[in-house]
Amino acid sequence: LICPYILGSLWKKKVFNIDFWIGAILLMSIFHIVSGTGTFGRVFLVKDKKTRGFFALKAMKIPDVIRLKQEQHVHNEKEVLTEVNHPFLVRLFWTHHDDRFLYMLMEYVNGGELFSYLRSRGRFSNSTGMFYSAEIVCAIEYLHSKEIVYRDLKPENILLDNEGHIRLTDFGFAKKLSERTWTLCGTPEYLAPEVIQSKGHGRAVDWWALGILIFEMLAGYPPFFDDNPFGIYQKILAGKLEFPRHLDFYVKDLIKKFLVIDRARRLGNMKNGADDVKKHRWFKSVDWDSVPCRKLKPPIVPKVSHEGDTSNFDTYPEDEWKKDTPVPAKDLEIFKDF
Ligand SMILES: *[C@@H]1O[C@H](CO)[C@@H](O)[C@H](O)[C@H]1NC(C)=O
Repeated sequence: LICPYILGSLWKKKVFNIDFWIGAILLMSIFHIVSGTGTFGRVFLVKDKKTRGFFALKAMKIPDVIRLKQEQHVHNEKEVLTEVNHPFLVRLFWTHHDDRFLYMLMEYVNGGELFSYLRSRGRFSNSTGMFYSAEIVCAIEYLHSKEIVYRDLKPENILLDNEGHIRLTDFGFAKKLSERTWTLCGTPEYLAPEVIQSKGHGRAVDWWALGILIFEMLAGYPPFFDDNPFGIYQKILAGKLEFPRHLDFYVKDLIKKFLVIDRARRLGNMKNGADDVKKHRWFKSVDWDSVPCRKLKPPIVPKVSHEGDTSNFDTYPEDEWKKDTPVPAKDLEIFKDF
C-alpha cells in the first residue's frame, strides 16, 4: 500500500511504502474501548515488525457492527479518512477484514484525549482554549472544503500528539456531502432552500459544536446540560446561554455567534464560511497561515516517554475478545470492499 504522508512538522510530502499484513502486527495492549453506540470495537497499540513503528489498530467485531447498525458508519469512516490528508486529522494507513473483524490501521497519537486534560484541569485558560480552537477551526475548514461534515466534535474525539498539537479522531459520523445525500434525503417539493442550493447544507452542525466546545473548554461544563437527554434538547432549543463571569468579552460574542439556532445566520455557515470565524476579534492575535504548519505553541505538552507510551490512555486487560465464531458469508458480503 502506498500512501501519501506528511511528515510531522516538516510539512513535506513523502511517499512511504507500507507493506503490512495482519500477521506482521503484534497485539500489545488494549488501550481504548471505542464507545458511543456500544462497544463494537477496540483499539490496540500495535508495532510493525519491520520498521518497529507504532500504530493504532482499530478492530471491530463484524457481528456487533451489524447488530448496532454501524455498517454505514464504518464505511463512511473509511471513505472519509482515505480521502483526507491534514496535520490535524488522524491518518488511516490501511483497512482489512477477515471472517470475524474489520481492521483499520491508523496513526498512533500518543498524547491522550483532550478530554482527560480538560477534566483534570477543570477548565482551560483563555489562551489555552484559543490554541485548541484555532487548530480545530483549521481542521473543520479543511474538511468542509472537501465537502465533509465531521458531525462529532467533542473533547473525547480530540487527541494530542507528543508535541501537544491536536488530531481529530473517530470519523464514524463524518459524512461526505454528495448529491446522493440530499436527493435521497427528501422529496423535491419539500427541500429547504439551502439544501437545493447546497449552500452550507450540513456544515453548520460543526460550527454549532465548536461553540459548545469553546464554552466547555473555558467554563469547564457545557452550556446546555440536564439529567436526561430530553431536558438537554429543550435547553438547546430554548437557546438561553449563561456565561461564567470570568469569560473574555470577545469569546462570549464568538460563542453566541456559533450558537445561533437559525443556521443561515450561524457564524462559519454564511457566505464567507470559515473566513468569518478567522476574522473574529477573539482570534485577532492568530496568524492563520502558520496554524496548519503547527507553528502555534502548544499550551500543554503531554508527558510521553517513547513513541509507544500508553500512559496517557486508560488501558484494559486482555480478555477473550478474539474467541468468536466466524461470520457467515452473507454478512461478510457487506464488507467485501473493506
Ligand atoms: C483572551 O484572548 C484574546 C486573544 O488572545 C485576547 O485578545 C484577550 O485579551 C484575552 N482575554 C483575557 C480575559 O485574557
